[in-house]
Order: sequence, then C-alpha cells, then structure tokens
Amino acid sequence: MAKPVYVLNGPNLNMLGKREPGIYGSTSLAEIEADCRNRAEGLGLTVEFRQSNHEGVLVDWIQEAGESASGVVLNPGAYGHTSIALHDAIRAVGPLPVIEVHLSNIHAREPFRHRSTIAPAATGMICGLGPIGYALALEALAART
Ligand code: DQA
Repeated sequence: MAKPVYVLNGPNLNMLGKREPGIYGSTSLAEIEADCRNRAEGLGLTVEFRQSNHEGVLVDWIQEAGESASGVVLNPGAYGHTSIALHDAIRAVGPLPVIEVHLSNIHAREPFRHRSTIAPAATGMICGLGPIGYALALEALAART
C-alpha cells in the first residue's frame, strides 16, 4: 500500500475557528482535516493528519515521516519563525518533499513573521491563501509522484 502524506500542524492550530478569526478565518482544524481527506481521495492519496503544540513532537513526526510518508504538508505555526530543529529535521529526511503552509500571509504581518527558518529546507511554501493552501500543497505533492 502507498505511503500516506503526513499533514502536520504546529502550536495553537488546534484553536482554529475560535482563534483570531479576523486573521485565520472561521474554519476549524477538524474541517481542514475533513477537506484534506476529501481532496486526498480525489488525488489518490491518503493522509495522516496530526497537530501538536510541542516542537519536539513535530521533530519526531518529521523523522517518522522520513520512514513512513510519501511527503509532508507542514504548518509549523510560530515554530516556523524560530525553529532550527524543524529546519534540521526536514533536511535530515531529504529528499522527502515537505511543503510549508501558512494560512495567513506571513509577509504582510508583523516583521517577526516575515522570516521562515524552515523555508530554506522545505520543497516549497504556500501562504496567505487560507485553508485551500493545504489542498494546494496536497496537489503539489500528488504532481511530484
Ligand atoms: C501561521 C502563521 C504563524 O505566524 C502563526 O504563528 C501561526 C499560524 C498561519 O497558518 O498563518 O500560528 O502558521
């Protein structure tokens, strides 16, 4: 059986729907998960969808993905601006494709969000498009296989 795509979500993304809806919208993470499963089915993919508030757990999951996944969609939340550990984990599982996703346009927000520590290690990045960014990332992964 083909390996799943890991869709990994970082800190505070469990609060989507309630959290700053003016920035992140009203879609919950459960709704994003349902949409990912739907889209994946249409693309002939399966998804393993997870969320953690803990940086080390995300590192563990990226390492696991190196063995068990065909690709990763990663919304690192705020760790995307600070984490060298996530950068290193992505490099460590290379050439596994990893697509970084942010719901909001990080470049149009506070200066501390303009930099991504993981972007140089990722295959590509989608930001500012809201929940459809996850679906586009799945499509990009499907096109690579
Ligand atoms: C985010 C953007 C980050 O700056 C922020 O810390 C998040 C969410 C996004 O999806 O837009 O938690 O990754």
